[in-house]
Amino acid sequence: MEKLWTGRFKKPINEIADKFNASITFDSRMIKQDILGSVAHAKMLAKQSIIPQNEADLIVETLTAILADIEQGTLQIDFSCEDVHMFVEQELTARLGDVGKKLHTARSRNDQVALDLRMYLRDQTLEIIELIKENIRAILSVAEANTDAVMPGYTHLQRAQPISFAQHLLAYASMLLRDVDRLSDALKRLNVSPIGSCALAGTTFDTDRAFEAELLGFSEPCINSIDGVSDRDFCLELMSDFAIAMMHLSRFSEEIVLWSSWEFRFIELDDSFTTGSSIMPQKKNSDMAELVRGKTGRVYGDLMALLTTLKGLPLAYNKDMQEDKEGIFDAVDTLKICLEVFAPMVESMSVKKDNMLAAAKEGFINATDLADYLAKKGVPFRTAYKITGEIVAYCIDNNKDLESMEIGEFKAFSPVFEDDLYGEISLEACLKKRSSFGGTSPASTRTQITQIKSKL
Ligand code: ARG
Repeated sequence: MEKLWTGRFKKPINEIADKFNASITFDSRMIKQDILGSVAHAKMLAKQSIIPQNEADLIVETLTAILADIEQGTLQIDFSCEDVHMFVEQELTARLGDVGKKLHTARSRNDQVALDLRMYLRDQTLEIIELIKENIRAILSVAEANTDAVMPGYTHLQRAQPISFAQHLLAYASMLLRDVDRLSDALKRLNVSPIGSCALAGTTFDTDRAFEAELLGFSEPCINSIDGVSDRDFCLELMSDFAIAMMHLSRFSEEIVLWSSWEFRFIELDDSFTTGSSIMPQKKNSDMAELVRGKTGRVYGDLMALLTTLKGLPLAYNKDMQEDKEGIFDAVDTLKICLEVFAPMVESMSVKKDNMLAAAKEGFINATDLADYLAKKGVPFRTAYKITGEIVAYCIDNNKDLESMEIGEFKAFSPVFEDDLYGEISLEACLKKRSSFGGTSPASTRTQITQIKSKL
């Protein structure tokens, strides 16, 4: 097909150069946004009497028909076009002749592509926010059933203090809630309209950028035309937020893989979210969690790639910026598929409370509580800490745990010990007593669940 930019050229573009230059294979996913943007543009041009109202009506009607044809599959994208903007204009002109050629008044592909991308990413971000919320809901449902399931809490991956499984899960719910917050905040800066910036300097036509922005659901037009066509901060900001969300899913995935191992056996993933081995008949692998962990690297890469592309770019538009799309589309697709698989995987896993409890009973994870007991009876905490350490060493030497020590044995370390100590160091008591705000007691975790639900 003939290029829309012919006129100045004596020769057609080289075939390889044409292919190299084209973006239609990936930017055609923004066709809906491109058409809706053009509809608003035609309306603005008519309102400002830049083109006649009847011609704008024809353009709007035809663009609407083109969109319907694309959605119904009766119109195929022509991949010989350079990009989606050229394709829509070509199709409009094929249907309307000279009237179609008027649409590209007082705009450029430079502001058009920035507009399409903002609109597309706005739609995608709203979907992603919903998907993250679904994951939070899945986590809450497992947490609700496990506020009294005792498991070892870890620091340095060493058993540290008893916690509930709910408490551990709610940490992830809190992270994902911040992801929702970050994305909602990024939307504020994304939701500014670049259209009307034109090639870079604005236009000689009497346009109404605020009207066009409003038609398209933007909060305002951007205030500088050069910034309008050059800014890709919104992509970087979203990809940073996506990368953080992936990092959260990846940490959770790592734990799911660990917990599913025979060494832990804290959870078992549902068969429908695992795979077998081609050679080892006993294997049940947590591939979904591993893939989420693996794909996190991809999303980081997408962010780094665009940061690097933009670094050192002079103002205003440069063709380098066409490289923004594949990366952010990949980041969007990757995050979405990970979120889609993650929620049902979490929701359907079975929790092995007995194994968690058995693990919590080993490793002296109630040692802090024994030290706290002494401290509450007036022993300075540092001294209480030292006495408890000596008791733990004694237990290790004598193959005992704290609960199985006789009161006489305790008294040999400190006369302060009384029978009431046993009530203080049982795992259930250790959990229940940590009722500080945000703590691991069943009551505190139930409060957290209510708080997170109200934020949703
Ligand atoms: N396909 C281009 C992109 O994705 C659209 C803008 C082209 N503008 C230009 N002046 N060549 O960035």
